[in-house]
Amino acid sequence: MIELKGITRTYMIGGTSQTILHGIDLKVEDGEFLGIIGPSGSGKSTLMNIIGLLDRPTTGQYFLQDEDVAQLDDDRRSIIRNQFIGFVFQMFFLLPRLTALENVMLPLSYRGVPEAKAKEMSMQMLERVEMAYRADHKPSALSGGQQQRVAIARALVGDPKVILADEPTGALDSKTSQDVMNLFMKLQQEEKKTVVLITHDMKIADQCKRHIEVQDGRLVQETSVGDQPNR
Ligand SMILES: Nc1ncnc2c1ncn2[C@@H]1O[C@H](COP(=O)(O)OP(=O)(O)OP(=O)(O)O)[C@@H](O)[C@H]1O
Ligand SMILES: [Mg+2]
Repeated sequence: MIELKGITRTYMIGGTSQTILHGIDLKVEDGEFLGIIGPSGSGKSTLMNIIGLLDRPTTGQYFLQDEDVAQLDDDRRSIIRNQFIGFVFQMFFLLPRLTALENVMLPLSYRGVPEAKAKEMSMQMLERVEMAYRADHKPSALSGGQQQRVAIARALVGDPKVILADEPTGALDSKTSQDVMNLFMKLQQEEKKTVVLITHDMKIADQCKRHIEVQDGRLVQETSVGDQPNR
């Protein structure tokens, strides 16, 4: 379970401090599908980077599986991150010189999984996202939706409990976005993954079981599926 209590984040920019997150309280249950919406610059990615242990809050507590991880050092955070969290980003961030298969294998090689085993696990993951037939292609020879499926396979290959997706459909057309969204929903339903997904697209947000809105670094609104008038 993810629990944030009074999380703030202040940046120092040219000698002046600027507070981007103002005391965020948030609970995400295991196996939940949470959407995060809000205007550009409101602090969504800043919040997600803290949840993903890529960044530390300035103040506040962050409990991940009951351990306060807010102020752990870099080494400890990267160990937990590697074990618990898979990231998916808008721009995919696949390494251009590596094939789809090699990209998926990367998190396993960081963990020291032997190459033959890593290959086998990565091929299975590519099959799951229906990309095994493009395993030998470089990212430049894949469409946007295909690249995102490979990036999702890479996020999942280490079997993380939590998937954090920062505008994963932001660079995709609406049909491909829906395919990617269906894949996330399947992972949550069939594998009980916890998914936290940032989006600008209300059609995507409405498919999350619950979504929250960030405005000027504060949570301003919370909507659950049952609350929506047209459902
Ligand atoms: N490393 C940093 N140093 C200083 N300011 C930063 C840093 N990262 C983000 N900010 C500022 O924090 C604010 C929130 O940024 P953030 O990336 O969280 O917004 P966002 O809600 O994800 O926006 P978008 O929808 O455009 O991705 C912005 O004003 C941004 O300029
Ligand atoms: Mg952002």
